[in-house]
Amino acid sequence: MESINMVKGYDKVNSTPADIPPPHLHHSKLAATHRRKTALISLLILFSLLVVTTISVVIYKSTTSHKSKTKTNSTTAPPPPPPQSNSLNTSESTRLVCAVTQYPNSCVSSISSLKNLPPQLGPQLIFTLSLNISLSELKNVSSFPKTLISKSNEANTVSALRDCVSLFDDAVSQLNNSVALFDGSEKEALTEAKIADVNTWISGAMSDQETCLDGLEEMESSVLDEVKAKLQKSKECMSNSLAILANMHSLLDKFGQT
Ligand SMILES: *[C@@H]1O[C@H](CO)[C@@H](O)[C@H](O)[C@H]1NC(C)=O
Ligand SMILES: *[C@@H]1O[C@H](CO)[C@@H](O)[C@H](O)[C@H]1NC(C)=O
Ligand SMILES: *[C@@H]1O[C@H](CO)[C@@H](O)[C@H](O)[C@H]1NC(C)=O
Ligand SMILES: *[C@@H]1O[C@H](CO)[C@@H](O)[C@H](O)[C@H]1NC(C)=O
Ligand SMILES: *[C@@H]1O[C@H](CO)[C@@H](O)[C@H](O)[C@H]1NC(C)=O
Repeated sequence: MESINMVKGYDKVNSTPADIPPPHLHHSKLAATHRRKTALISLLILFSLLVVTTISVVIYKSTTSHKSKTKTNSTTAPPPPPPQSNSLNTSESTRLVCAVTQYPNSCVSSISSLKNLPPQLGPQLIFTLSLNISLSELKNVSSFPKTLISKSNEANTVSALRDCVSLFDDAVSQLNNSVALFDGSEKEALTEAKIADVNTWISGAMSDQETCLDGLEEMESSVLDEVKAKLQKSKECMSNSLAILANMHSLLDKFGQT
């Protein structure tokens, strides 16, 4: 307000030079120069304030974004999901889901070798497929102890293998119980109770296999390594199924499902 009046006054003075005596004009010019200096200083101060504020904002932003970066890093959160996980094709979804497992290659190859897969798969259906694969893999190896018994003439081996036969029967029935809970539709309810039961049964089947191997080891059986190698794929399948199940909540989040 004051500066506007001053300028107005100066204009008035300037517009009627004849009425104003020289000393007054001289005084006015000095005052105007002084005012210009003051205005310039004010501008400089304003400008400095602006620069300081801008720098502060930039520093604040960079420290906060740095903080949030270190935060996600230190909590070892998984990398943010691709923006449209729910529009991935079958092989991309399978890869994403299998990434949570301990044997991602066997997980991907076993699922992608299945025929008539739908064009899109969610984590729940991938889990059901993985469970079915675990069961058929287990069924495939469960006759192996019987085959070895018929060939063996070591009493310790035969005794340990007999235990394996009943352990494998138990393992098959535990996985069979698990498979029976799923009809294979993507939308079927996956309750906490179901998750807990299936988790118990798959873990039980895995420990049946371990117990079989422990028995052969205790008996210092010559077929231990052969049985161990035979069971490896089955063990990987069940481990993969368990890992997918354990990560089901975060996988559903990644796929934008609830
Ligand atoms: C942070 O992430 C980088 C790579 O993204 C990794 O090399 C580093 O080990 C991580 N640090 C911690 C503490 O997780
Ligand atoms: C799935 O998508 C990826 C990348 O978008 C592509 O390379 C791949 O061929 C696709 N697979 C199928 C089976 O369509
Ligand atoms: C069953 O096991 C045999 C070898 O022991 C293997 O050749 C065959 O592919 C397996 N079948 C399935 C369905 O995994
Ligand atoms: C597996 O479960 C089905 C029912 O879902 C049953 O008919 C079958 O006898 C079971 N098989 C084994 C080996 O437990
Ligand atoms: C898994 O196997 C069961 C029984 O064989 C079947 O009913 C179900 O549809 C299968 N699930 C998938 C996803 O193929």
